[in-house]
Amino acid sequence: MIPINRRLDKVSEFVQGEVLADIGSDHAFLPIYCIQNGTIQRAIAGEVIKGPYQSALTNVTTHGYQQQIDVRLGNGLTILQPTDHVDTVTICGMGGPLITRILTEGISYIPNQPRLVLQSNIQSEPIRRFLQQHGYRITTETLVKERAHIYEIIVADPGKMQLSDKDFKFGPYLHPEQNALFVEKWERELEALADIKQQLDPEKHHHRYREIETQENDIKEVLSQ
Ligand SMILES: C[S@@+](CC[C@H](N)C(=O)[O-])C[C@H]1O[C@@H](n2cnc3c(N)ncnc32)[C@H](O)[C@@H]1O
Repeated sequence: MIPINRRLDKVSEFVQGEVLADIGSDHAFLPIYCIQNGTIQRAIAGEVIKGPYQSALTNVTTHGYQQQIDVRLGNGLTILQPTDHVDTVTICGMGGPLITRILTEGISYIPNQPRLVLQSNIQSEPIRRFLQQHGYRITTETLVKERAHIYEIIVADPGKMQLSDKDFKFGPYLHPEQNALFVEKWERELEALADIKQQLDPEKHHHRYREIETQENDIKEVLSQ
């Protein structure tokens, strides 16, 4: 078995069906792992940058999976074709805004509405807004800690949902549950905001200062529930 980190191992738990498209697949670790443990039959590994694309290609060849994993060079979901019959798309290890951009630019390439497993490093709010506007419903959310980082994993399937602003920001499954990782993540965010605030002059940077205070209050309110 290819060694895989805890974050991608957790992502792999949500992969379903026969065909996986892993977008931003620099080493193709996730597709190789999912083939090896029998989760999927075939995969497409997409990469936009040549160096990581070459690493993915080398890894797939080294492990002898050229028949099962097609490594493609190109932007986001635009590498996909209807004949690929993708069941799950994974987009991992990026910020929420970049994941959202990849989805926005490429949604027409996944008309069959595969399951989406989206693992963001920061700022998941735009992802949730995109999902609601494009016929997806969040079916699971989870947090995973690896070394010093706490990552969010959002799983979405075709359907409707109606989220509140609080849900968009904190996660419709994550904030009602408030597990230890959730509390740790948002307490850290509070510390980061306090650091930023300290460097601002409340008079001179009035607007930004107020913005941060609003964010702090939102987080405190959620954590106190
Ligand atoms: C930080 S790495 C994460 C790799 C792997 N998915 C993981 O979670 O460990 C992000 C990768 O996404 C690729 N990437 C960024 N934007 C992309 C896009 N629009 N289309 C395809 N790949 C992209 C980057 O080149 C990089 O290799």
